[in-house]
Amino acid sequence: MANRHILRRGMTIGLSVTAMAIGSTAIAAPTKGTVSVLNWWTSGSEAKSMNILEQMLADQGYKMVNDAVSGGGGSNARTVLKSRIQSGNLPGVAQIKGPQIQQWCNTGLTMNIDPVAEKGNWNQVLPEAVSKYMKCDGHYVAVPFNIHRTNWLWINKSVLDKAGAQMPTDWDSLVAALKKIKQAGITPIAGGGNTWQVATELDAIALAAGGPDFYRKAFVDLDPDALSSDAMIKSLQHLRTIQQYTDPNAQGLSWNHDTGEVVQGEAGMQIMGDWAKGEITNADATPGKEIACIAFPGAYTGYSYQSDSFEMFAHSNSDKNAQYAFARTALSPEFQRKFNKAKGSIPVRQDVSLEGFDACAHKAKKDFITAKKNDALVPTFSQDMAETGAVKGAIFDVIAKFYNNKDMSAEDAAKEMAHRVQQAQAMS
Ligand code: GAL
Repeated sequence: MANRHILRRGMTIGLSVTAMAIGSTAIAAPTKGTVSVLNWWTSGSEAKSMNILEQMLADQGYKMVNDAVSGGGGSNARTVLKSRIQSGNLPGVAQIKGPQIQQWCNTGLTMNIDPVAEKGNWNQVLPEAVSKYMKCDGHYVAVPFNIHRTNWLWINKSVLDKAGAQMPTDWDSLVAALKKIKQAGITPIAGGGNTWQVATELDAIALAAGGPDFYRKAFVDLDPDALSSDAMIKSLQHLRTIQQYTDPNAQGLSWNHDTGEVVQGEAGMQIMGDWAKGEITNADATPGKEIACIAFPGAYTGYSYQSDSFEMFAHSNSDKNAQYAFARTALSPEFQRKFNKAKGSIPVRQDVSLEGFDACAHKAKKDFITAKKNDALVPTFSQDMAETGAVKGAIFDVIAKFYNNKDMSAEDAAKEMAHRVQQAQAMS
């Protein structure tokens, strides 16, 4: 309910100040037009990736104002977006993912970009797993940039060697490797411990421990039996084990700081989506060489995916032609190659080649195709692809409670998750 309430309020207030936004807050257009872009890409590799778009738009005569709000995973940026709507200062474009695209569309504030999509053949070049999220009532309102995979484990190979540990292939061999790294006096897992990071860890663990069918029932269908099942209990127990191998003093550190620790050999591994790969490359290491990339190991294999996407707003502080140029350029083959190389993701366009991309990008693409064939492709819950804000909030609350209270059992946490999710659904 909270979520809808905010959206409805946002709609009323947003529309009532629309005239104001048009009249007074429009950014002066230096050349062909200006587009402001609210996003949360502030790490080194993220900012570099965004600069590519800014430059490509500048080359065409458009000005992109990069409104970046720090905070991995975007919760700060989402709060800023809501408050900007309340104050009638809508950005032309905002980073919004998954089912939330539809929620924003329901406010009536979004902009139809069908003319760009039709010209660019988006229905043909985008995978259906992604394009279905970009539309509202059959019309495109958002543009996707990439495909990221969440369930990766990044491993510093020289740390493994130093510790005399083997490359893990399943849960038991992972725990054996973590134990050896700890014995060698190195932090086994780099993990900042904020809820978004812990949820990202549980995301990968749950897919490996319970498999894609369980994952879908729990996090997409929100089935209470799956949410409180043995598979969920096992996943939470595995998270507790991972926590025991994580530096307790790292609390509050950012995900990109953690990636840096793995690259420097100060920590052995990180459980993180392949935006970590952007940081690895940015630090001049080679993903797939010094830093291995494997799907988080366990009883099952699968692929949890997400697509970073940007929704367009009408009556914003931006020029429509610049918003169109933003959408058109983002899906151009040239941008898709340059951006995704820097960002760590793979192109969302299916017709763009991976020539010159690193080994982990090639693995990501191959695994995406295999997972699609085997029905093992799941929208990732920790990165907003599976559920709406209120339900995600309930899941994240329980994860935080469990992580911060070592006396809470996995059984109790699973039960509470099922209960809180049901409550959140009833209220939204
Ligand atoms: C994710 C986003 C990624 C990444 C990460 C850390 O939600 O989709 O692109 O950059 O947050 O900020």
